[in-house]
Amino acid sequence: MTINASVDDFRLLDPATLAEPYEYWRALRESAPVHAVSEGVGYTIVTRYADVKAALRDPETFSNQLSRRFQSGMSAYKDSEAVQAVMANACPYADALAFSDGETHNKHRKMVRRGFTLARVRELDALVEQTVDEFLDELVSGDEVDFWRRFCVRLPIRIIGHILGVEGDREDDVKRWADAQVHRFGEPRETEEENLSIARDLVDFHQYLYAALAERREQPRDDFLTDLVQASDGVTENELVLICAQLLVAGAESSTSLIGSMVNQLLDHPDQLQKLREDPSLIPGAVEETLRAESPIKLVHRVTTRDVELGGGRIPADSLVLLMIASANRDEDVFTDAETFDITREDARTHFAFGMGSHLCSGAELARSEGRIALERLVARTSSITRAEGPAPVHPPNLTVRALKTLPVILHPADTSA
Ligand code: HEM
Repeated sequence: MTINASVDDFRLLDPATLAEPYEYWRALRESAPVHAVSEGVGYTIVTRYADVKAALRDPETFSNQLSRRFQSGMSAYKDSEAVQAVMANACPYADALAFSDGETHNKHRKMVRRGFTLARVRELDALVEQTVDEFLDELVSGDEVDFWRRFCVRLPIRIIGHILGVEGDREDDVKRWADAQVHRFGEPRETEEENLSIARDLVDFHQYLYAALAERREQPRDDFLTDLVQASDGVTENELVLICAQLLVAGAESSTSLIGSMVNQLLDHPDQLQKLREDPSLIPGAVEETLRAESPIKLVHRVTTRDVELGGGRIPADSLVLLMIASANRDEDVFTDAETFDITREDARTHFAFGMGSHLCSGAELARSEGRIALERLVARTSSITRAEGPAPVHPPNLTVRALKTLPVILHPADTSA
């Protein structure tokens, strides 16, 4: 769909714009690269690659400590008394990891790095392979399946559930916990019952984490949570719980989006899917190009600590800034034919899909592995992948995540008799 987008018509929170923002971002890059809007809680939007890069490189001016603006930690909205009563049993808010700066951030990041050792990531690769094959056993059938719901959502949930030590068949719980956190970041739900249910899920998750961490202190195991606990000198128990909670959100929705968008793009570009089949060494390039052209996390938030000049404009102190990494990744000044999906693009990896600088994504290698292994196994186990009949998949209106709702496909089994 081509919209004749103009900056004058740009409404950040308009559902149609949230679903398909690219044309508007192009207009913003051209004529208003640093653009303040009064919608919602009021934002300054930064859309050019060079400006996003400058801001990501200057964490002292562009702070991750969002509590400077949001009194109750991550939510701009006040909870009802009933929700507050439930939330009294949740882990109290503290500035942690992705929402902290300076010394606190360094301390938290160092701890998380001790968990994501190369050995652990390799071990996770084996689990990703096993899980991908388990799911494909059900899905590669020649029948219509919703690949989004039955694969893209489930794979990262299974993996991050394992990282967080969740045992047994609790995929649905992990998904509920992830959703609850996403809802707390965003707009409140319409009904009190929904808001209460989200709060209860969050409490349930935090209580799980307190217990799982206490168990590791008492009886260390050979696992990620034990590594974290053992590297947690100077980190409070509440901070530890909130960091684990961040890992769930960070590790679930974004990887789901990556895998779904990658398959969706390859279905739109069957010639490129064919190239991959002929030369699977192109698969890592397909992952990078999806990260660039369909960046799963569209933006990162920052709060300015002082008045600052950026992109020829002036941003006052205490502004809430949205660094549009998905727009930067389509900046024509940096990427030739930036709107074109091309798995052989040589400079795709210079994208900012994982951020850059001090807050660079801690799970980037894991996410890349999930995308690569999913595509390798899909290509190996199918003779072709086609869209099921019906309307084209749509992107739900979401400020931060480039998601899909469904992805109906038919996975035709490879002929293994030869
Ligand atoms: C395709 C998948 C993923 C994408 C696109 C993605 C994207 C990002 C981005 C853009 C940031 C930077 C935030 C900022 O600058 O404020 C980030 C940070 C982070 N990500 Fe990811 N992520 C993905 C997968 C994962 C996974 C699988 C994990 C862990 C299991 C993870 C853990 C983290 C953590 C802990 C941070 C915070 C780092 C810090 O603040 O120092 N991410 N991610």
